[in-house]
Amino acid sequence: MRDYINSKLLATVALICLCLSQSALGQERTSTVLRNGWKFAKGEQANAFAPAFKDADWEEVAVPHDWAIEGPFEIDGNGSTGKLPWKGQGWYRNELEIPASAEGKRVYLVFDGVMAFPKVYLNGENVGEWDYGYNSFYLDVTNAVKFGEDNLLAVHADTREHGSRWYPGAGMYRKVTMVFADPVHAEVWGTYITTPIVKPNYADVRISTAVKNTSSADAEITVLQKIFSPDGIEVGQDTISRTVKAGRTADLEVDIRLIDPERWDVENPALYTAETHILSDGNAVDITRNKFGVRTIAFTADDGFHLNGRRVQLKGVNLHHGHGPLGAAFNKRAMQRQLEIMKSMGVNAIRNSHNTAAPELLELCDEMGLLMFNEVFDKYDNKADILEDTDFDEFAHRNIKSFVTRDRNHPSIFLWSVGNEIGDVQWNINNGFKRLHTMLNYVNKYDPTRPTTLVNDNMEGASMRHFDLYDVHAWNYGRRYRLARQMEPNKSVVISESASTVSTRGFYEFPLPEEKTDFTKSLQVSSYDLNAPDWAEIGDDDFMWQQDEPYIAGEFVWTGFDYLGEPTPYDNRSVKGMGFGDKEASRSSYFGIVDMVGIPKDRYYLYKSYWMPEEKTIHILPHWNWPDRVGKNVPVFVYTNGDKAELFLNGKSQGFQQKDPASKNSVERFRLMWRDVVYEPGELKVVVYKNGELLGEQTLSTTGEATNLKLTADRTAIEKGGEDLSYVMVEATDADGNPHPWADGYVEIDVKGSVEIAGVGNGNPQSFEPFQGNRVKLFYGKAMIILRSTNRAGKATVTVKSDGLKKSSVELHVK
Ligand code: GAL
Repeated sequence: MRDYINSKLLATVALICLCLSQSALGQERTSTVLRNGWKFAKGEQANAFAPAFKDADWEEVAVPHDWAIEGPFEIDGNGSTGKLPWKGQGWYRNELEIPASAEGKRVYLVFDGVMAFPKVYLNGENVGEWDYGYNSFYLDVTNAVKFGEDNLLAVHADTREHGSRWYPGAGMYRKVTMVFADPVHAEVWGTYITTPIVKPNYADVRISTAVKNTSSADAEITVLQKIFSPDGIEVGQDTISRTVKAGRTADLEVDIRLIDPERWDVENPALYTAETHILSDGNAVDITRNKFGVRTIAFTADDGFHLNGRRVQLKGVNLHHGHGPLGAAFNKRAMQRQLEIMKSMGVNAIRNSHNTAAPELLELCDEMGLLMFNEVFDKYDNKADILEDTDFDEFAHRNIKSFVTRDRNHPSIFLWSVGNEIGDVQWNINNGFKRLHTMLNYVNKYDPTRPTTLVNDNMEGASMRHFDLYDVHAWNYGRRYRLARQMEPNKSVVISESASTVSTRGFYEFPLPEEKTDFTKSLQVSSYDLNAPDWAEIGDDDFMWQQDEPYIAGEFVWTGFDYLGEPTPYDNRSVKGMGFGDKEASRSSYFGIVDMVGIPKDRYYLYKSYWMPEEKTIHILPHWNWPDRVGKNVPVFVYTNGDKAELFLNGKSQGFQQKDPASKNSVERFRLMWRDVVYEPGELKVVVYKNGELLGEQTLSTTGEATNLKLTADRTAIEKGGEDLSYVMVEATDADGNPHPWADGYVEIDVKGSVEIAGVGNGNPQSFEPFQGNRVKLFYGKAMIILRSTNRAGKATVTVKSDGLKKSSVELHVK
């Protein structure tokens, strides 16, 4: 293998796939992630596509990049999209020196996602564009390349016509890869791996590779497919030979039998690798690798979802694509951390609401044993003009082809969704069922091995039987699935969005709400987990429905994490209804089970107690610092996998509470609640039993004054290179180290050594403080500092101080 981009660029790129083979040195494909060397400017920038354009005063950025996350917040702006300046145009330019020795190669640019409507120029020539900011696409740019010279790559991103119901981010927010391949090569996303036969002691793996011959002569080629086990041992191979005509693409397919393969499963995510060699005259001219898994999936009519022949209840969450304070700029570690936090609560499935995901998310789900509900559109990405101006068939085909062919080898994907709450489709408006059919046909064309669905929100719409066109009922909220299920009982049900319970971490209001929609002018939502918008419900309801209706395959909670935008119930319209103005509207959601920086809210423990019944969970809420409520009522809830408990306040029993598995009031099934506790400072203790045996106890004490700062890094050793992250939580504590629930001062951050601050935040939907900077405000005692490695290895020290609190430091190692 050789590098086809000279040292100027080499210094700035990360090579992701260097295919080494003795026999074919200099022949194989190289893939280079174009991470550094980018210049960026916002605004129109006339002629910025032209090589001669002067960009010397533009900002230097690394890609992935989100130009809007640094703000500043538009205080009077639209909270539903995060009050951040994401609307507009931006230009990216990168000078790539491509050596003469690369001449003869085919050159591709693969864009994982550009927000939005990207136009790509190479050496001043428009080499391609795309119309859907979440989707991946690739361009064959060979004819525009100047081998042996500087090549100017320019990308224009324009979000002005992009509609969104949340913060979408802006710019080149996912990676870009440059690929040099032999004229005869496996097409990008051209290898398709299926397992048509999976038996207890063997499986047949079918590998089909689309071989593209871009040369002017017919090519006699052999495709050699090798399979490597999860431990890297070769476990099978086969070859197939044929002529691929000049300028044509041919699918070459082999079947390889694996004896006693390990199954990919949520418990044991075993991944095999298929290595595809294209041989010409016995030499490998192109080698690519794809991971896959051997597993069976099936939806049953009455027994939910089966993975490898056994029922697996889907314990899922919805995740939008953003990373909170880091914005939409994709970062693999930030994504991995989100998934780790979700898994620690018992999650085994993710829905990528509502748009094509970063490819790394699929890789992580494969590796971590998470099932993926893979979705392509939200209401056609709010493209208002789609019905008037767009050739729908062409739009759907092109976008669904990219979506499915890029992702279809991932064993984690168990369901394809053609979209979320698409109004005209559900109602068959303007022939909406035809569009539904078109989308489903294209999914099936590129992957007939998985079930399909459409996500619905309108119950009456079900009477039109759109579900006859797809495999699984997927419904959001309020038991709306019931009519469809009644009309078509042979199809299973997925609650594609459950809960939409809202709360603010650390915030409690008294008295408890009488109705789920009791929201006050506090602009925060009480964390007793009893509030939801009128269309939605509390999490306990969904647990109850799944218990009572075992045909339900599972749920996907809206949402795992809080996200920028959609600040129900404090969006601009709602706050105006309360007598406020635009500036009072919040900038991020209250839906998350954890806040926007990943700190658990109380209901994290409610989900954990139900989803991980074998793990001990005992969580008491609220905190016990209520100086203004001495002698007044402060209800106490306990989230536990136990079934009965006795509560003590300063040693005095407050009585037993017991879960009632038959109650129709869902909270009585899943929570232990002492509603009449009269507050006095001191110690709350709960002693919990399960099946008549002691499970454990937990105490919660009134804390003293906040005196200290405590730092907790999720990882103290990270990799150099500018991509790895450490999340350091800052907490105010009393002298004994107990977290102080009211501390809200500013924390000044000082960083020394080989890390830098990537972002800060605290989970307050009402905060308009910048996400970038060297200070962060505590919110109910806590905040998060996100540190990023630099290119240097070595030690780093983070020190925090805050008025009246003792400073504190943590040391990190960058390897
Ligand atoms: C759903 C929608 C989600 C989100 C949610 C909030 O109807 O699909 O994107 O808006 O409501 O409850």
